[in-house]
Amino acid sequence: MRDAREVVAGAVVRQGHLLLARRTWPVALAGRWELPGGGVDEGETPVAALARELEEELGLTVRVDEQLGADVGLPGGRVLRARWAELVEGEPQLREHSAVRWVDAHGLVSADLVPADRAWTAELAARLA
Ligand code: C5P
Repeated sequence: MRDAREVVAGAVVRQGHLLLARRTWPVALAGRWELPGGGVDEGETPVAALARELEEELGLTVRVDEQLGADVGLPGGRVLRARWAELVEGEPQLREHSAVRWVDAHGLVSADLVPADRAWTAELAARLA
C-alpha cells in the first residue's frame, strides 16, 4: 500500500442506492463494507485520485462532485475524506473487493461498515431516504 497521508472515498449513488464494497485487507477491516477509494498520490488532486481509484479498483468511470461530511482522522495521522461521485459508465468489477452491493438507507444503516465510514452514515442515509 502507498503510504498516503490523504485517503479519499467515493459515495456513488445510482437510482437512490449507494455503492458499498467489501474490503479484503487489512485483516482488521476484511469483510467489512466501505465507500470505495484509496490514497491520494503525490502531486495528485483528491478529485483525480478518487476517479483513478474507482477506475482501478472497480472499473467505474465517475464524475467526482463535492465533499460529503467531515474529515475523519485515521491511524498514523492520515486523513480520510469522502466525495459524492456520479456514475458515468460501468458496472462494478471485483478487482480488489470481495463483493459490492447497492444499498438504500436501511441497508446502509444495517451494514457492517468500516469504523471510519460511520462518520458519514447520517448524511448518506438522509440523501438516500
Ligand atoms: O483502500 P486503501 O487501503 O487504499 O485505503 C487506505 C486506508 O484508508 C485503509 O486501510 C483504511 O484504513 C482507510 N479507509 C477507510 N474507509 C474507506 C477507505 C479507506 O477507513 N472508505
